Amino acid sequence: MPCKCVKVFPVDGESTRVTLDSLGILNHDYKILSHEGHLYIPITEDGTPPSGMDIVYMDLLPNKTRLLPSDLLPFKITYDRLGDIILLDEPDAHQATAATIALLASDIQFKTILNKASEIQGDTRVRKWSLLSGNSTETIHKEYGFEFLVDVSKVYFSPRLATERKRIVDQVVPKEKVFDMFSGIGPFTVPIASKGAIVTATDINDLAIDYLLKNISKNNVEQNVTAHNDDVRNIANDYSNWADRIIMNLPHSANDFLDVAFNIAGKKCILHYYSISELDDPFTADISALHNVGQEHEVTILNEKIIRSYSPHQVHICIDALLTR
Ligand SMILES: C[S@@+](CC[C@H](N)C(=O)[O-])C[C@H]1O[C@@H](n2cnc3c(N)ncnc32)[C@H](O)[C@@H]1O
Repeated sequence: MPCKCVKVFPVDGESTRVTLDSLGILNHDYKILSHEGHLYIPITEDGTPPSGMDIVYMDLLPNKTRLLPSDLLPFKITYDRLGDIILLDEPDAHQATAATIALLASDIQFKTILNKASEIQGDTRVRKWSLLSGNSTETIHKEYGFEFLVDVSKVYFSPRLATERKRIVDQVVPKEKVFDMFSGIGPFTVPIASKGAIVTATDINDLAIDYLLKNISKNNVEQNVTAHNDDVRNIANDYSNWADRIIMNLPHSANDFLDVAFNIAGKKCILHYYSISELDDPFTADISALHNVGQEHEVTILNEKIIRSYSPHQVHICIDALLTR
């Protein structure tokens, strides 16, 4: 599987390796690769190297001096890292136990193992987890230099969307007015506010807003964020014709909130609309919905993007659209 790496000239190899190690983002599970005049130094998937370093993905050999769960298991496991928590997706109870034993015996560092115990549920989009090892479901997760306190048993959060969030954050300019309609614990709100944008964030889950407020203060962006613990439909009229940019990250039902987003949209507003759609025709239905919201806005589609596979026949998509009043 391709591994996230920093690409350097050999002359910079050792100093870069030492820097990455001191930041805690050197990935000891893989060997450094020398290929066509460059070195490829493995870093952790959620690791953020200092700016200016060249990040690429390369196939690297596992570092056999470190014992990995895959060395101890007859089957393959995949897991996500959330701070010091391992998030497993192993529906078979025997395999989940075997995976836990292998993880504990391996050289991987973590404090807690959680296994998915339900689908994402209800308005708050929280899933149930079984605790397989450790004693806390709360952790601090780092994403592109920001720190997020999160408890996945109380709020929605997915580390898998980090690259997509970075794509949006990179587009934001200072003083922009950004409305994060379904903010969760703030993985869009916090980095966008740190770019000097003025952010309004809403979430219906009071626990998500508790974590959002902690993360706003942890990352020193209090000045730039107004947070509401409310259904976005209840506050939309207070922000009518306000936003330069809107983030709609509620992919299973964003469609039901398009009228709310169009109400919030200012004279010229970029909308980032997330949806779960059918693999064989991922964009047509949502683009048609965007064009049918009302007469007040011209809709120009700027970008259509498949973010990741969601199920064998479904994909998680983003449509970026310019709304002009
Ligand atoms: C898929 S999560 C996304 C959270 C966050 N943007 C992220 O990337 O981690 C959607 C969030 O929308 C919130 N939510 C659902 N319905 C809502 C509504 N009507 N108004 C405001 N927030 C809502 C949920 O509580 C949940 O935290």
